[in-house]
Amino acid sequence: MPNFALSIRKSLTVDTDSTVVAESETANAAQAGNGDSDSGVVIETRNLSKIYRDFWGRKKVNALKSLDIEVRKGEVFGLLGPNGSGKSTTIKLILGLLFPSSGRVLVFDKDASETSKNERIGYLPEESYLYKFLTAEETLDFYGRLFDMSGAARKQRVSELIELVGLQGAKHRQLREYSKGMTRRVGLAQALINDPDLVLLDEPTTGLDPIGSREMKDLILSLKKQGKTVLLCSHQLADVQDVCDRVAILDQGELKELGRVADLLKVQDVTEIHTQRLRPEVEAEIKAIIEREGGTCTIDNPTATMEDLFLNIVRESEARPGARRVSGTGTPQEAAKEDQKTEESQGEAGQ
Ligand SMILES: Nc1ncnc2c1ncn2[C@@H]1O[C@H](COP(=O)(O)OP(=O)(O)O)[C@@H](O)[C@H]1O
Ligand SMILES: [Mg+2]
Repeated sequence: MPNFALSIRKSLTVDTDSTVVAESETANAAQAGNGDSDSGVVIETRNLSKIYRDFWGRKKVNALKSLDIEVRKGEVFGLLGPNGSGKSTTIKLILGLLFPSSGRVLVFDKDASETSKNERIGYLPEESYLYKFLTAEETLDFYGRLFDMSGAARKQRVSELIELVGLQGAKHRQLREYSKGMTRRVGLAQALINDPDLVLLDEPTTGLDPIGSREMKDLILSLKKQGKTVLLCSHQLADVQDVCDRVAILDQGELKELGRVADLLKVQDVTEIHTQRLRPEVEAEIKAIIEREGGTCTIDNPTATMEDLFLNIVRESEARPGARRVSGTGTPQEAAKEDQKTEESQGEAGQ
């Protein structure tokens, strides 16, 4: 009897849940000495609303309407929504860069307007306004000075961060020579200079290619592993699905959905089984069992995501420069066979 590696989605979800609980407990333990309350809530918005007004005080845009969310210690929380749905406004209200029109934001149990909380927050704005004639090293050193870090501490932190965001090869180049992706990485390093407990990321993957985007997502997951709390906002559905534990979906300033990503995406009345490739007789037997139960089933090979495919191709091309992989079957020999088949069938059609 072959040893099938069965993984049923229901049990997967349970696994995911328990990992997150275990990890956030570690995070709680890690931060227990920080003088935080035991509530485990890092950000709380209460009935938070923002109306932008024009110069004359006339109502211009109702950007956020009665938002109630809680972001807990150690989780990656996503604000997802189309352009103009109020994501950046929410982040700016949390930072205390904007004042609410009504309602409140509490960060580390303090009102968002209290500046002392900012020492524990890192922020990557939607557009990084970095001085383009400085190198990455000088930029980070500058931000280290703003946090009153000593020379030795700054030097160490700057080199750690440059390594973390993968800019060792470019650290002496001025930022004006950087690509959008590299600038985004400096932005992230700058957000982490003070080793913050809470990291706010506004559209962290904007302008990044799939590789840069994957690396940014891996960095976010590594922040979570270190016990940090991350709130990110994005209009990229894949970002949120790949890294967030919970998500709030906003539209036109209103909260439309809030919950665990795994729960929101679970299709309740379908069971999914993963196993190795089955012999046709076994497939037929499984189908027969399911039909006996009055059900229907389709058995197929799973598809990878376009991201997986792209990353594999790029990695392979870096490992073996010059090798050409042709779609579908993979090897050039098989591709040549396919070409021959096509030529033959065209020949037949022409006869
Ligand atoms: N400073 C501002 N003055 C007036 N309206 C603004 C300002 N900033 C944002 N808005 C408006 O508020 C709404 C929400 O914007 P924003 O929070 O930036 O959305 P998102 O980040 O989800 O794209 C949009 O309609 C936007 O045009
Ligand atoms: Mg925005």
